[in-house]
Amino acid sequence: MTSTSPPSVVVVGSANLDVVLSVAAVPRAGETVLARGTSRNAGGKGLNQAVAVARAGAACTFVAAVGDDEAGRDLTRTMVGDGIDVTHLRTSAEPTGTAHIAVQDDGDNAIVVAAGANATLHELTAADRELLAAASVVVAQLEVPVEVVTAAAQAAADATVVLNAAPAAVLPPELLAAVDVLVVNEHEALVVAGLTAPAGADVAADPALLRRVLDALLEVVPAVVVTLGGRGARWATREASGETAAPRVHVVDTTGAGDTAVGYLAAALAAGEPLAAAVAHAVAAGSLAVETAGAVPSVPRRAQVLERLPR
Ligand code: RIB
Repeated sequence: MTSTSPPSVVVVGSANLDVVLSVAAVPRAGETVLARGTSRNAGGKGLNQAVAVARAGAACTFVAAVGDDEAGRDLTRTMVGDGIDVTHLRTSAEPTGTAHIAVQDDGDNAIVVAAGANATLHELTAADRELLAAASVVVAQLEVPVEVVTAAAQAAADATVVLNAAPAAVLPPELLAAVDVLVVNEHEALVVAGLTAPAGADVAADPALLRRVLDALLEVVPAVVVTLGGRGARWATREASGETAAPRVHVVDTTGAGDTAVGYLAAALAAGEPLAAAVAHAVAAGSLAVETAGAVPSVPRRAQVLERLPR
């Protein structure tokens, strides 16, 4: 019998209220700058990825924790509005996570996160484990405790486990052993690989260094996607590798663009696309996200992404 239900993706991760400050340039240590404007949006790496999965057309369940507060209720409304299954969402005694984000004129940012409720997501329930065991793709990042990320990856059974190692961290071997696709930016790639780049080195612009980083990562995971910002993304398995260039776009705000790429990558993998095609979806989606301000508000719809795919 042919199933008509969309492929299922489970996202385990953070949900934040993003407090955004628009500035000419992000302040250096010891500096005070005046913001030109402020806004509040739904965000958090986990929620941004869950919204991207849902907007890509996959069925998405979000395992996360928010506080019993107005921000938590707002974020939950956002999830429900995007058709995300919130039955595995916890309400914590800690306040909802908050990210303070300075976005400068060129669209780049600096982010400080107060984890709040996200830090209380320590354990999986029996129902979470059942959900993860039945999923097509499981996605996680590192704004929730690493023990729950590890438990989720291990509970994923037959699912493809996509780990976005952000924020950058040295990862326990038992987590890496359960990962199928590691998604990292240049900085995260170096940290996870345990490598130090020569001073001033640019991984994205140095093919030999990038190859070295990829080779080191492929010793611990079977597939790697390195996102290269405006350059696109490079992917590699132990058998093959490739690159998708990003289209030239007007960058307004890079916040959440990497998360959008991860969500679209996961949805494409869940739909049965090979890694190269899934990376093309991710790059197209990320390039659309940087054209709009905010994290969740900038996640594009599936039709926009299909329109932007290279022909
Ligand atoms: O990756 C972008 C996200 O990082 C923001 O939405 C913010 O909440 C932080 O988690």
